[in-house]
Amino acid sequence: MCGIVGAVAQRPIADILIEGLRRLEYRGYDSAGLAVIDPVTQQLRCIKTAGKVQALSDAEHAAPAHGVVGIAHTRWATHGKPEVRNAHPQVSGSSIAIVHNGIIENFQEIKQELCAEGYQFASDTDTEVIAHLIHKIWQRERRDFFGCVRQVVARLSGAYGLAVINSEQPDSIIVARSGSPIVIGVGIGENFIASDPSALGQVTDRFIYLEEDDIAEVTRDKITIYNGTAPVNRETVRLHLDNDEVLKGHYRHYMQKEIFEQPDVVKNTLQGRISKTQILEQSFGVAAKAFLDKAKSVQIVACGTSYHAGMVAKSWIETIAGLPCGVDIASEYRYRKVLVPQDCLFITISQSGETADTLAALRYAKTLGYAGFFTVCNVANSSLVRESDVALMTFAGREIGVASTKAFTTQLAVLAVLAVALAKRRGLSAAQEKDYVKDLNQLPQTIVDTLALDADIKQLSNDFGEKHHALFLGRGVQYPVAKEGALKLKEISYIHAEAYPAGELKHGPLALVDADMPVIAVAPNNELLEKLKSNLQEVSARGGQLYVFAHREAGFQNNAGLSVLNMPHCSKFLEPIIYTIPLQLLAYHVAVLRGTDVDRPRNLATSLTVE
Ligand code: M6R
Repeated sequence: MCGIVGAVAQRPIADILIEGLRRLEYRGYDSAGLAVIDPVTQQLRCIKTAGKVQALSDAEHAAPAHGVVGIAHTRWATHGKPEVRNAHPQVSGSSIAIVHNGIIENFQEIKQELCAEGYQFASDTDTEVIAHLIHKIWQRERRDFFGCVRQVVARLSGAYGLAVINSEQPDSIIVARSGSPIVIGVGIGENFIASDPSALGQVTDRFIYLEEDDIAEVTRDKITIYNGTAPVNRETVRLHLDNDEVLKGHYRHYMQKEIFEQPDVVKNTLQGRISKTQILEQSFGVAAKAFLDKAKSVQIVACGTSYHAGMVAKSWIETIAGLPCGVDIASEYRYRKVLVPQDCLFITISQSGETADTLAALRYAKTLGYAGFFTVCNVANSSLVRESDVALMTFAGREIGVASTKAFTTQLAVLAVLAVALAKRRGLSAAQEKDYVKDLNQLPQTIVDTLALDADIKQLSNDFGEKHHALFLGRGVQYPVAKEGALKLKEISYIHAEAYPAGELKHGPLALVDADMPVIAVAPNNELLEKLKSNLQEVSARGGQLYVFAHREAGFQNNAGLSVLNMPHCSKFLEPIIYTIPLQLLAYHVAVLRGTDVDRPRNLATSLTVE
């Protein structure tokens, strides 16, 4: 989603704001803007551009913005097209500027009221109503700007993380959080604000996370936080943001780097959680045990790639642990009537920990009587982590490419350990546990072996450059893998791709199959292999072009209509992780071939903090 940065300093801040936006660009990148208060004239200076942060940087270099207090924003459009007039900051009068992440649900009502009072709107955004409302109250009261913003925030419904400056009160930024994260970066004689601490790694390593409904006034040497009518203290945490992590190194794209990081990050994620022979359940933390002991069933909720991880986990939890497991898309779950069985464990899965739908689903679930709340998450201190009883962290490092890769495989690594931990409570023998753990210990090396197929997959990708559609097939636990492969291809190459459990083909999608429809199948040597082969025959018989990622003993032979890529041997247990990797590589190479913006595909963003 969008990204926010701000600074109250004694030095020029334009470069700090622009560098912060660059670091947040993975969250949204269709327009950008900044507003600073000139320390000499005390005038507001605002620059906005359409497109990526580089355009804003060029504009600022052409006409520098002198200021020591200011706010900036990179946008992912929700209300209004990605045009300069809809970019943030949104301004009211000559003094008030605001940047905002989220959606104001009652903006139409407030807009009508403001229009009736003579306010004119220059944008189609919901954000502009906040600017004008603050302006209106400030014009009326002319004192206590913090109090004015608090009055306005009380009128907003929806989700927001916002930052406001007023050139008539030039020494502070006001920030507020409700449903969309805001952090304060603590400096010496200067302070900063952002929607994500990674934006501020170049200026501080100390952060205060605002809690839900907090509002804060940030000056150079003071931070005042309120929740409701009461002042509150929030802990300052030290974060070591590794700047090297955000560099691409010798890779052409972050996505490519992140695909190749998978052996290391999966290893990091498993470290401390397994020994040579056992699951080390104490690594889940002391709180986890009682919840795991109690669980008689599991409900998983997530979105997108994380939802696909949940689908794989459902299969593991049911087959390995013998526990019933439901899996829902968060945006659906949050609005449906849910019947909760007794002693059901609720698990969210999320890379960012800030996905609005998943967070809302968790909050809804908390009203329903679940036995406990776990999250599998990649971002420490994120909202999901803070609002769950137990956080099982994936140690994937920051994922910058919008297309999720290493987050998915590390989620699966954690969920595999969790499934075995649950199975131990239901009669899994020490010998069986040892087998699963042996597979997990071999996983990083099997990923290395799979990545060695890169050159072959790049070669294969040439067949996809001119295609408009693709079908992905898998059976059983490979169906979510096929879904993940289709999602990867569509989101970065813009080729329309769909996934089906292969047995479903004949019930409709087979009608689409012809020589122009590549059909990609994942075919490990498991109990469904023969069934899958029959389904693939149906494709061949209709002239479809098949691409099969197969176990080398699965018995596929290359021929005119069938390209086979032999996968390294891996345990049946971990096949969903291993078979995802060639699909990531395929999507990556096809996107490069088609010349798309691989790391920042159109219309998407890494962290979706709006509904
Ligand atoms: O941060 P989350 O895992 O909660 O994000 C959920 C989805 O938006 C995300 O998985 C998305 O589908 C992927 N980035 C697509 O590659």
